[in-house]
Amino acid sequence: MQTVQDAAALRAAIRGWRAKGQTVGFVPTLGNLHAGHQSLIKLARARTERVVASVFVNPTQFGPNEDFERYPRTLVQDQAALADEDCDLLFAPDVATIYPFGAEHSVSLRVPQITDTLEGAHRPGHFDGVATVVCKLFNLVQPDLAVFGQKDFQQLKVIERMVRDLSLPVKVMAAPTLRAEDGLALSSRNQYLSAAERARAPLIHDTLLKMRELLDQGHPWQALEQTAAARLTRAGFIPDYVVIRRAEDLAEPAEGERGGLIALIAARLGSTRLIDNLLFD
Ligand code: PAF
Repeated sequence: MQTVQDAAALRAAIRGWRAKGQTVGFVPTLGNLHAGHQSLIKLARARTERVVASVFVNPTQFGPNEDFERYPRTLVQDQAALADEDCDLLFAPDVATIYPFGAEHSVSLRVPQITDTLEGAHRPGHFDGVATVVCKLFNLVQPDLAVFGQKDFQQLKVIERMVRDLSLPVKVMAAPTLRAEDGLALSSRNQYLSAAERARAPLIHDTLLKMRELLDQGHPWQALEQTAAARLTRAGFIPDYVVIRRAEDLAEPAEGERGGLIALIAARLGSTRLIDNLLFD
């Protein structure tokens, strides 16, 4: 597997593949790769002839009090994990390659409406940073297919909208969330958890399952949100949101609406913020 840092080398490699008529799949990441990321590479690998991954800790999607500085940078291990999945090329740019005028003077994309709620409400500017960097990476890689994890469900929706609204010629594919045996969704941030917190963290997934069970039994979604939030609070979590929404647009469901719903949770456990979701279909 080739690793390139600059845009010209990336474009040259991709030009070579395109000249042979090969298709290109793309998996953008923040690095510190785990089995969840590897499953995204596998999905791309099965669908396109060439696979590119990027590792870039994007400064514009982190808020001032978030973990940009302490986000684990593990490029050597990431290279090995990608090579194991038969990834063809790792693009690992520096900040100046992605933001030639500096991150604070960059063109910034805003995907309206769907970013006003949930993560967007709790992390102001986060999705502007995500949409901006993903659009820049798409412009550089020009993939046929890009794979994103369903764990960041709202991010997936934001990217789908951006791609459609800007008529970008890339197919966005959603990959199922990979979980530890006890149900905790795999995330690079899980390593911030202490042993005691790690033992409690699967309660988030358990709560999502409980919400689904109670909704199936006919309980109204509004009551479920409150019961679930209270359950997490009792166990020492500080929930940012515990909601049931329409999966399509993340709007509140109508009274009695049952189909196409998703439960989403974001909660703090100690100094770690965890997110997860469960589609109810
Ligand atoms: O989900 C992530 O890892 C990041 O938000 C992404 C899509 C790579 C953009 O920086």
